[in-house]
Amino acid sequence: MTRVENAAGPQVKRLSDYTPPAFMIDTVALDFDLRDGETKVASTLQGRRNPQTTDITDVLELDGQGLRLLSISLNGAAVPEGGYRIEGDKLFLSAVPENFTLEIVTTIEPEKNTALEGLYMSDGMYCTQCEAEGFRRITYFPDRPDVMAVYTTRLEADADRFPVLLSNGNLMQSGMLDEGRHFAVWHDPFPKPSYLFAAVAGDLACVRDSFRTMSGREVELRVYVEHGNEHLTGHTMDSLKRSMKWDEERFGLEYDLDLFMIVAVSHFNMGAMENKGLNIFNSKFVLADPQTATDADYERLEGIVAHEYFHNWTGNRVTCRDWFQLSLKEGLTVFRDQEFTSDTHSRGVKRVADARLLRAVQFPEDAGPTAHPVRPESYLEINNFYTVTIYEKGAEVIRMIHELLGADAFRRGMDLYFERHDGQAVRCEDFVAAMEDASGIDLGQFRLWYSQSGTPELEVDLAHDPDAKTATLKVRQILPPTPGQPAKEPMLIPLSMALLDGEGQALPLQLLGENAEDIPKARVLPVSQSEQVFVFENVDDRPVPSLLRGFSAPVRLRTNRTAEQECFLYRHDDDPFARWDAGQAYLTGALTAAARKGRYDAVLDDDFLQAVGEILSGPDIEPAFAAELLTLPGESVLADAMTPADPEAIHAARNAARREIGLRHAGLFQESYDRLSIAHDPEDMSTAAMGSRALKAVALGYLVAGGDTGAVALAALQAAAATTMTESMSALQALNNVDCPERRDAMKAFHDRWQDTPLVLDKWFTLSATSSLPDTLETVKRLLEHPKFDLATPNRVRAVIGAFSSGNPVRFHAPDGAGYNFLADQVVRLDEMNPQVAARLVAPLTRWKRYDEARQRMMRQCLERIRRYAGLSPDVTELVAKGLGEES
Ligand code: TRP
Ligand code: ZN
Repeated sequence: MTRVENAAGPQVKRLSDYTPPAFMIDTVALDFDLRDGETKVASTLQGRRNPQTTDITDVLELDGQGLRLLSISLNGAAVPEGGYRIEGDKLFLSAVPENFTLEIVTTIEPEKNTALEGLYMSDGMYCTQCEAEGFRRITYFPDRPDVMAVYTTRLEADADRFPVLLSNGNLMQSGMLDEGRHFAVWHDPFPKPSYLFAAVAGDLACVRDSFRTMSGREVELRVYVEHGNEHLTGHTMDSLKRSMKWDEERFGLEYDLDLFMIVAVSHFNMGAMENKGLNIFNSKFVLADPQTATDADYERLEGIVAHEYFHNWTGNRVTCRDWFQLSLKEGLTVFRDQEFTSDTHSRGVKRVADARLLRAVQFPEDAGPTAHPVRPESYLEINNFYTVTIYEKGAEVIRMIHELLGADAFRRGMDLYFERHDGQAVRCEDFVAAMEDASGIDLGQFRLWYSQSGTPELEVDLAHDPDAKTATLKVRQILPPTPGQPAKEPMLIPLSMALLDGEGQALPLQLLGENAEDIPKARVLPVSQSEQVFVFENVDDRPVPSLLRGFSAPVRLRTNRTAEQECFLYRHDDDPFARWDAGQAYLTGALTAAARKGRYDAVLDDDFLQAVGEILSGPDIEPAFAAELLTLPGESVLADAMTPADPEAIHAARNAARREIGLRHAGLFQESYDRLSIAHDPEDMSTAAMGSRALKAVALGYLVAGGDTGAVALAALQAAAATTMTESMSALQALNNVDCPERRDAMKAFHDRWQDTPLVLDKWFTLSATSSLPDTLETVKRLLEHPKFDLATPNRVRAVIGAFSSGNPVRFHAPDGAGYNFLADQVVRLDEMNPQVAARLVAPLTRWKRYDEARQRMMRQCLERIRRYAGLSPDVTELVAKGLGEES
């Protein structure tokens, strides 16, 4: 598809410019005539003036991009030239009456659509992706989420090649036509914004099941996949049914149509899409069996199926007024899928995993030039705002409301939100107001979480007065400046805490001057000022503070705890997050200190190493949680804690620490490995079995890291004997940074075995691109010449280019700048094809401020080189401009 550039260049959109639409559209009838080379789309819109607006214009504004207009008629009469004008991606239609019928016929060419937005082809099937602004690539329409209409869709195509014709809602009619063609008519009774429209035409296999809702309705469930993949849909179907049940039980939310469909496609810009009644998924998150998918893949698939299903209420029934409100649906839906996973598996482990992700990806975003609030105020390209800040930080904001209100009041707030806004397009503010009204709790100051960007830093110091028997927590919040926000107001930060005695027992927390009845042993302190003091009475001996329990707020915590106290908490804290976090804090301190000094012997204290031994030999610890406790902070988290970040020193320090742990506890790791290997069914997908395998993988990793030659042989043996992808991948991961024939042989065998299974071959590409061996960049360049590499397949691009630039810091940040140059070249190449995916690759280059001067200069040069490229998309343009520190 050729890019149609606006003559004026991409325009900045601002929240403050929002105006309601002058006209509403009540019904849309779409007719797709799908043909090679040219697909005709006839659209009939029933509309009327918007009664909610005083705007008296008679001009209807429609969006359209890359369309060929064949005809346009208003109330049955062809609109004369001069009755409308097209400017860039807009069509302005004049003299529109109060009520109208508008008929528009356009043509498009889905076969040439490599941007994968709008209607495109993937492996011989037609499919759509309309969020955020893809519908305008299908037909002229007011493509904004506050225009909600009832859609009827007719699809016509070749019956042989496209026997399956799908759209939103229910099938009304279908049949054969002349010349081997056939048709289907779908109707969706629920008004929806255009971004939730979907259509699919292809030759697909269908797996069916059903679900009985709480009110006794039978819903038909269908998962569509390429022929031959039917046997890979079990976990998707099962996850879907459990999600439906969970939403009924936890939130009283029932599915509303008689049919729910999921379609798997192999070319997809993101994870999945919640189109009403017709979710479209990246096949990576649909297809799984133990032979081809790891346990981690199973868990992600389940979380994504749940996420998209939960959108049916949080996103579809109640949608966003405008795209600045994106977190209204995404933050809330991520919170819901996190809760689903916590209820299904282990709450503590899930909390740790979410905190790890936030720290590794969102904190750096919040500290860099693309930082933005959960509810942004301006953007150039909305596609760039599907960020970890909108999604994951947005979910943390919802979680804090949940904690501040308590589960019951939160549920009343959700009920009130649906009671007030079902069928509407609303703002984040409307959600917060419903929560306030249902609970009676004032969220005034709390609202700053939506408008202020950046990660707050919480400095918490404990002082103990043995004479007064008081413990005093001095809390300071520091709100670092972010682009466009030099100064900030103090925020409301819920700080969950406890005080532990020498045995690790929580003490009663009696605040000074408070009644001594029913004294809790854990509290949530409402930090609301820049500096605040909390005094606890009757504390005889100096306690150790357990802080930010449950990760009660998405902040950076700084304390005056000693390394010894951190190790104590790592052993004893009863809150899983706080326990894990104390270990991470200790490790971050020890590893960055080693990196700074350039000294890589005895990186870890004996105290910590001993604690590791206790975790390994302790009987009562959940294996999945033990695996988390034993996993060091990633290199990106460590880089975030070192100024300037030195990727090579960090890599060296982290490796040294892994070697120390592996050497010290080789015996225990071997024991764990052996114990976890026997009497386990490798295909048991229960939470417990997956947890045991996670711990076994950690043990193998440390055995190899310890440097024992027997360990490499053990990993090679596991790789060769593996009957599941989890076993296979954990062996290859353990070998991936070791330069040895075993690695080369295992990788080759893996490649040869899986070269015709794209989702598994992606794993091979990623392993190759993330090896820390010195020649990896050369390997990556060769991978681009591999017969199976394809720039038009986002999964493959992410598996190679994305994995290298964001998953291999030591090689990406090579001191000669070769990694940066490589990425810049690929971004430019990909941008011509798929701007959305190209833009997502730019992020690592925008973080130049964190590095030394030489790297800074090279990274900036690469950004400038990208910018000079003529015909750059708005997507990449915006990120590069922000990366260079130019504010829009
Ligand atoms: N709304 C989708 C989800 O989270 C994500 C999404 C947004 C998307 N834009 C997209 C998916 C473009 C694919 C392509 O849940
Ligand atoms: Zn979503």
